[in-house]
Amino acid sequence: MTKSDKKIVVLSGAGMSAESGIKTFRDADGLWEGHDVMEVASIQAWQNTPELLTEFYNQRRMQLATVLPNAGHHALAELQRCFNVQIITQNVDDLHERAGSQNVLHLHGELRKMRSVNSQSETIDIGYTASVYGAKNEAGELLRPYIVWFGEDVPMIEKAIEKIEDADILIVVGTSLEVYPAAGLLHYFPIENPIFLIDPNRHEDLSKSNLRLIKSTAAEALPKLAEMLVEKYN
Ligand code: APR
Repeated sequence: MTKSDKKIVVLSGAGMSAESGIKTFRDADGLWEGHDVMEVASIQAWQNTPELLTEFYNQRRMQLATVLPNAGHHALAELQRCFNVQIITQNVDDLHERAGSQNVLHLHGELRKMRSVNSQSETIDIGYTASVYGAKNEAGELLRPYIVWFGEDVPMIEKAIEKIEDADILIVVGTSLEVYPAAGLLHYFPIENPIFLIDPNRHEDLSKSNLRLIKSTAAEALPKLAEMLVEKYN
């Protein structure tokens, strides 16, 4: 099979990993694993209760070790055989990578990594192990989770905008599109090109004529959508 020169960008959110067993943020009770999101995912929370945050992210990291990519993650990785695929994810899990996706841009950081409080760019991969509050890097700087919290800049957004502006097809999957700047990325996508929005709970169509809503889950819809795209463009 030949590889199409079409560029596909996938914007994924928490719903992408729901069928792997990782809870979304805003679905059922508005709580993230029993916590108000602002209590565990804001820069103020890090400043006020760093031990609690360290423990919270330790638990998320250890949970990550127990889950697997689902059929949706695998379908996107397969799609790389036929298209140029760029994943832009708001998720901090590593399930896209574990399924085999090669170009993954994490807008909100990565659970497996720590960084110095002074620098966004250098990270340390600690795998699925627990971190201890107070641990330092070789330069003696305090380490913190490599997570972009509410109240912080999103350094990867410029790169994400470039990718979206240049895309031929956009797949939006498992995101409530409530959190900016990630949600604003859709505005940069060329208006004449198709958008597929996969979400089992969404009702409105976001008033975009080029948008097709697929009211289904990531694991059910992505394999079918991938098959359709391959048939249409290859
Ligand atoms: N397949 C696809 N979509 C699903 C599934 C599924 N199996 N299950 C739920 N969804 C949808 C929900 O209907 C909802 O619209 O996924 C969306 C999840 O939305 P949120 O929980 O708000 O997650 P997300 O959009 O990724 O949140 C953005 O907010 O808390 C911050 O930094 C955090 O990255 C996160 C950001």
